[in-house]
Amino acid sequence: MAPRITVIGTGYLGATHAAAMAELGFEVLGLDVVPEKVELLSSGRVPMYEPGLEELLARHVAGLEGSTGRLRFTMDWAEVAEFGDVHFVCVNTPQKHGEYACDMSYVDSAMESLAKHLDRPALVVGKSTVPVGSAERLAARIVELAPAGDGVELAWNPEFLREGFAVQDTLRPDRIVVGVRGERAEALLREVYATPIAAGTPFVVTDFPTAELVKTSANSFLATKISFINAMAEVCEAAGGDVAKLAEALGHDERIGAKFLRAGVGFGGGCLPKDIRAFMARAGELGVNQALTFLREVDSINMRQRAQAVELAREACGGDFLGKRVAVLGAAFKPDSDDVRDSPALNVAGQIHLQGGQVTVYDPKAMANARRLFPTLGYADSAVEAVRGADVVLHLTEWREFRELDPAELGAVASRRVVIDGRGALDSAVWRSAGWVFRAMGRPRA
Ligand code: UDX
Repeated sequence: MAPRITVIGTGYLGATHAAAMAELGFEVLGLDVVPEKVELLSSGRVPMYEPGLEELLARHVAGLEGSTGRLRFTMDWAEVAEFGDVHFVCVNTPQKHGEYACDMSYVDSAMESLAKHLDRPALVVGKSTVPVGSAERLAARIVELAPAGDGVELAWNPEFLREGFAVQDTLRPDRIVVGVRGERAEALLREVYATPIAAGTPFVVTDFPTAELVKTSANSFLATKISFINAMAEVCEAAGGDVAKLAEALGHDERIGAKFLRAGVGFGGGCLPKDIRAFMARAGELGVNQALTFLREVDSINMRQRAQAVELAREACGGDFLGKRVAVLGAAFKPDSDDVRDSPALNVAGQIHLQGGQVTVYDPKAMANARRLFPTLGYADSAVEAVRGADVVLHLTEWREFRELDPAELGAVASRRVVIDGRGALDSAVWRSAGWVFRAMGRPRA
């Protein structure tokens, strides 16, 4: 009989993983400690914008018309322990308040709450991004707490999904990585992934620390790549070069690759910034601080990009924001997401607001989240309304909607035609021919 799956924590990662497992034919029970989330998911809806996820839920959530009924949600730990053979733990690991280190309290408490009820053999699979060494510590804790003792095994199976592509990345991952201690855990995970997911997908079996490190080092590499191209943008800016052409030419080298070489206001979101900081903190604990000092530079280049966008806007406003209207296009940390955690767009908008500018923000999906986080900023219902009367327009999240804007139409309502493309995604020729002064980091002024 196919193993029954539970998913603990139904945020981005968990909700998507649960729906994907149901799509692959498994019976799935999701658990969350927040009653509103359980209620929302049980009605087939998600508390965030993630393309394709609600469609997947509609196909499988029990009680919805025409669904397979394979997916249910609960708040009851005993029910989860009783139901599942394989328990995926997908709770979040935010940055600790005021420090670089990772806050493990959600993972610890989820593992403990679950373990206390496990009175028959089961496999617990950690998917959260954790500091290396966590799995070993948690494995011992689970055996200590579980009534079934060492009948309960732990495995670590990091998840690499990107927001906005969560469904696609879960159903068609680049690779599956599992950190295991025993053959039983490996066999069970091979069975779970012996589905369309694993057909042709590299399946890497390794130990706990390596599995944990794959995730943190992958995110560190991606962050480094972005900061590298942003550093080149600074050099291009000074030397009169064009970072977009530079990135295009670099990307043709297969060893480098074209992805993650888009210069601009840099990386944000709930993963890359906090993961590189937690990684540095962990390296310090392990006594290999120096191995990761380059990540400090990656972080500071990234933060400098935000300051650079503010400076370009100030320059465009004649050196002072007082009495100036600034339109900000974008609030989410990236397109196809309503996530505003550590969003470069909102950070830049907030800095300009604090320096006296009158800021109006528009985003296709992230308005509600942005308003909650920055209630004092101005908000508009459309790009045109945001731009009305603006002295400068900042493009800070590269939604398709913004690429398709008509610069002539915007030019008719703006006070001055100056646009700063902080994502290197707008067509400079089109904007310039509509009479706009077009500026982008690391790109020629003319
Ligand atoms: C990231 C990893 O990609 C994913 O594998 C991991 O599981 C979670 O963290 P995510 O945070 O969803 O995913 O976003 P991603 O698409 O990686 O973008 C991160 C940030 O980098 C965004 O703010 C994006 O705008 C920025 N970025 C990306 C750039 O500034 N330039 C680029 O070339 C690419």
